[in-house]
Amino acid sequence: MKSPDFVSLLADSHSRRSCFCSLVPATSLLCLVFLLGNAFIAPIYKEKLSIWGMTDTLHNLNFNKCKNQCRPNGSEALPEGIVSKTSNLEMRPLWGFPKKNESSKVNLFAVAVGIKQKDLINKMVKKFLSNNFSVMLFHYDGKLDEWKSYEWCDHVLHVSAINQTKWWFAKRFLHPDIVAEYGYIFLWDEDLGVESFSPQRYISIVQSEGLEISQPALDPAKSVELHHQITARGRKIVHRRIYKHGESGKGCDGSSTAPPCTGWIEMMAPVFSRAAWRCVWYMIQNDLIHAWGLDMQLGYCAQGDRTNNVGVVDAEYIIHYGRPTLGGGVGDGNKTSSSAKGHTVKTKNISSTEKAPSHSHSHFKGPRVDVRRQSYIELDIFKKRWEKAVQEDKCWVDPYK
Ligand SMILES: *[C@@H]1O[C@H](CO)[C@@H](O)[C@H](O)[C@H]1NC(C)=O
Ligand SMILES: *[C@@H]1O[C@H](CO)[C@@H](O)[C@H](O)[C@H]1NC(C)=O
Ligand SMILES: *[C@@H]1O[C@H](CO)[C@@H](O)[C@H](O)[C@H]1NC(C)=O
Ligand SMILES: *[C@@H]1O[C@H](CO)[C@@H](O)[C@H](O)[C@H]1NC(C)=O
Ligand SMILES: *[C@@H]1O[C@H](CO)[C@@H](O)[C@H](O)[C@H]1NC(C)=O
Ligand SMILES: *[C@@H]1O[C@H](CO)[C@@H](O)[C@H](O)[C@H]1NC(C)=O
Repeated sequence: MKSPDFVSLLADSHSRRSCFCSLVPATSLLCLVFLLGNAFIAPIYKEKLSIWGMTDTLHNLNFNKCKNQCRPNGSEALPEGIVSKTSNLEMRPLWGFPKKNESSKVNLFAVAVGIKQKDLINKMVKKFLSNNFSVMLFHYDGKLDEWKSYEWCDHVLHVSAINQTKWWFAKRFLHPDIVAEYGYIFLWDEDLGVESFSPQRYISIVQSEGLEISQPALDPAKSVELHHQITARGRKIVHRRIYKHGESGKGCDGSSTAPPCTGWIEMMAPVFSRAAWRCVWYMIQNDLIHAWGLDMQLGYCAQGDRTNNVGVVDAEYIIHYGRPTLGGGVGDGNKTSSSAKGHTVKTKNISSTEKAPSHSHSHFKGPRVDVRRQSYIELDIFKKRWEKAVQEDKCWVDPYK
């Protein structure tokens, strides 16, 4: 699809939505979402209101203005100025005011952690803290005390829930209104090496390249596991597509417009802009904790053309150690993929090559196999849910069709 078509489709759906807002005041929550996500709608919306209002009596004008304000649901009983719609993750002193300028923490690093990976986590946390990030640890093994020996322990947020995945935590603790102040949200796995990675340089690259959804490239020489060609480090600053031969149109070339050729990243070390995260959060399903299938749909949250706004940063790269983590650790070495972290949706045709473990594989036992089986089940549910949603939402237009 050519980009002008793409833009007009997007514009169409936006104007339809804002219209919908002013007609149905009851959907104020919906309005809020769209206003926050698309700040530019607000002026249009106000303009419409005032034109409409001029032909009406003053009383009606006031009435409609008030009724039509897009307020968070439940806040209507309060004067607007007191309504505090968003928050952040900054800790505050019991008395006095924070010494540091509050606006100094502008990005967020969140990572699922188990004590077994403390060496890697220590390096990551130190690096992100020294780059003025807010840091949040999602503990899935309940071992909080063992982190106390690190000097940074009291300066990061700890959330603990046994055996929960990164996506489970993110859905519950990174609501877009809570993390609204952060420009970029890093939602990473724990088995990553950041020796050659600079968060600040990474951010300046994604800003200048306009990447709303991105990941650092993986160092192919040092990484134990490299699941997808698109994540391998190239020689440029960033890359947004891969080139490879494949039978019957399955290859990737300069004209490919869809994942996994372009508009796609892996779920191991994603970085989301504020706007992209607001969208992605809604797409994460409460009950699908491995989030398989999400990666293929990320492009819908790219705030525009996914072939431009989604990419892999080569200049700032990381190492994937592929350690067995949540759901693993039963002597399965490092050859099997770390599926528990929900990032290993194969791009191959799943039904033909990567069948979910069946009874014929039952000589492999343990949580890892169960987790993998569950991930495939979730993938199937997610795909069906998406298709159903597309069918049922008569107003939704697929910008990529
Ligand atoms: C607002 O919240 C009430 C319950 O608190 C609910 O019944 C209603 O459907 C909500 N409205 C919207 C637009 O979400
Ligand atoms: C914090 O920074 C903002 C702008 O960056 C500035 O307006 C404000 O005065 C600063 N506050 C303090 C306490 O330094
Ligand atoms: C972190 O913030 C402090 C104070 O706002 C600033 O002096 C320092 O340069 C910042 N560090 C980085 C790496 O941006
Ligand atoms: C957590 O998962 C492990 C297997 O990975 C299991 O042995 C343990 O019982 C689980 N704990 C809880 C509280 O579910
Ligand atoms: C992974 O396997 C390789 C060889 O197969 C080994 O050298 C390496 O130490 C292993 N890494 C981990 C983290 O177990
Ligand atoms: C996978 O292959 C099977 C048969 O080979 C086909 O029916 C199915 O549509 C394919 N699925 C995808 C997602 O390409």
